[in-house]
Amino acid sequence: SAAEKDGFDYFMLKEIVEQPKAVADTLLGRVSVDGQLTLDEMRLTPAELRSVEKIVIIACGTSYHAGLIAKYAIEHWCRIPCEVEVASEFRYRDPILDQQTLVIAISQSGESMDTLMAVRYAREQRARVLAICNVNGSTIPRESDGVLYTHAGPEVGVAATKTFLTQLAACYLIGLYLAQVRGMKFGDEINAVIAQLATMPEQIEKVLDTVEPVRELARSLADADTVLFLGRHVGYPVAMEGALKLKELAYMHAEAFAAGELKHGPIALIEDGLPVVVVVPSPKGRSVLHDKIVSNIQEVRARGARTIVIAEEGDESVRPYSDVLIEIPAVPTLLQPIVSTIPMQVFACELALAKGNDVDQPRNLAKSVTVE
Ligand code: AGP
Repeated sequence: SAAEKDGFDYFMLKEIVEQPKAVADTLLGRVSVDGQLTLDEMRLTPAELRSVEKIVIIACGTSYHAGLIAKYAIEHWCRIPCEVEVASEFRYRDPILDQQTLVIAISQSGESMDTLMAVRYAREQRARVLAICNVNGSTIPRESDGVLYTHAGPEVGVAATKTFLTQLAACYLIGLYLAQVRGMKFGDEINAVIAQLATMPEQIEKVLDTVEPVRELARSLADADTVLFLGRHVGYPVAMEGALKLKELAYMHAEAFAAGELKHGPIALIEDGLPVVVVVPSPKGRSVLHDKIVSNIQEVRARGARTIVIAEEGDESVRPYSDVLIEIPAVPTLLQPIVSTIPMQVFACELALAKGNDVDQPRNLAKSVTVE
């Protein structure tokens, strides 16, 4: 009903706006600005976490994208090798697992059959399984050794929005906690990131306050056939998430590339007027990839692409090559997906609405996929 939607026409619009609270609720009681992490509820002891030699993340769809981002953070902060795999492929390739392997299963619903079967397989192979889940008491956390719940509240729209941001928050918490428990030596960086993580709800609020031009842009692209997305480092999975949102909501061809791969083939796709969304890493000095992506933006633009650039506020170096520049707040590089994803969500939602699609119930899709 209209009341349940809080005056919004669609649940998705409401759920996008709820993101600051969803992330704040997920961090509540677990992280404090003075750098304290409290994750005892996870049911895995510090001794168990210290014995981990390898991490394997399994998930589907948007949750898989959260896993891809988690890999960058966990390997950097904890120096534990970390693989990420779509759950539907996992148990069919004879993966190498043992008691020193920590499997992290990310599932909003806790009911995705592909992820559940992967969890069962991992436990049979004696790996420890930690679930990241939004639905209390659902099957995946019940069958796992431990769980860290996201507190996004119920998500009705089929497209994951607030649950994705809270999955990211949960992944960061786990990565930072593992680093602390294992006594990682770059303590200063970790403490600074913990303090920054606590401020993410305010940063999300800032993005929501400035995202209006993205709606206009989306409406202007309702007739495009294809949209390409480019990113590097954690911006690559964000680009993948932007493309998935556009497929599922606007029924458009959308594809994401790691920007460094452009020259290995995809640049042949660029033609006059093709919209290309680029997620720019933190500016020079904080990311060695910044210059490289600026070159990529120039390359696609020289071939006629219409460049839609998502970059940190104050990053003037990209402005001359941006047909549309979307600014996001400055945050630590590894946390950038929490803010850079939001324009992607708004873009896909608005474009789908301009096409007359029902963004809460896209065709052919179910909120949780309980068949293999
Ligand atoms: C996201 O927008 C999709 N609806 C879908 O990819 C979803 O993330 C996927 O099916 C996984 O669901 P889960 O997190 O509930 O396991």
